Amino acid sequence: MRDITNALLDWYDTHAREMPWRVMPAERKAGKRPDPYAIWLSEVMLQQTTVAAVRAYHQKFTDLWPTVADLASAMDADVMAAWAGLGYYARARNLLKCARAVVQDHAGTFPQTYDALIELPGIGPYTAAAISAIAFDEPSTVLDGNVERVMARLYDDHTPLPAAKPVFMKYALRHTSSDRPGDYAQAVMDLGATVCTPKNPSCDICPIRKQCDGQAAGTQLELPKKTPK
Ligand code: ADE
Repeated sequence: MRDITNALLDWYDTHAREMPWRVMPAERKAGKRPDPYAIWLSEVMLQQTTVAAVRAYHQKFTDLWPTVADLASAMDADVMAAWAGLGYYARARNLLKCARAVVQDHAGTFPQTYDALIELPGIGPYTAAAISAIAFDEPSTVLDGNVERVMARLYDDHTPLPAAKPVFMKYALRHTSSDRPGDYAQAVMDLGATVCTPKNPSCDICPIRKQCDGQAAGTQLELPKKTPK
């Protein structure tokens, strides 16, 4: 268990993808902390949108509204206009609701725990876990599509999604880091996005290849299984 966590953290130290809102592992070790507002914004934008597409939008939002209080006092129409092109417009409406709730109910400071974050508009289990881990180093376990794929392969588990979600959550929980929760959360997501990819995974360069049951069984391309719609 520990060796998987440490192998992923070591890999992340040298392979973390640069993102404008991300505090890179060396900076984090030097004491730099992420801006919770920037992390929240990135995680909301990254739902259903690629990192490549999010970059410019994230920059635009933080230029126009540098703090959550700035965003909370923005005109609805201006925020909707800035969001145009990202799609899933309910996210933009929830974004504003959430910013206003942070200002009104939390004096403009994001709450730090999973339990408090999940009470906010538009913040579900994934986003609450991601923000608490990445922005506040709470030992929360993130489970997105990337992590589900990594866990299905690591355990060679053929249970189909979505029924498999609680099972994959159980696996993911085992490896969550209590020393570096934020870096770990980002490491496992980056691994899924760049190495343990849906097609043509790069098993030859995977830092947890030796522990991977799917790779041993040669089933990695079949996993995760999905229940047909
Ligand atoms: N996809 C969504 N959020 C992410 C994050 N914090 N790191 C890497 N990939 C992500």
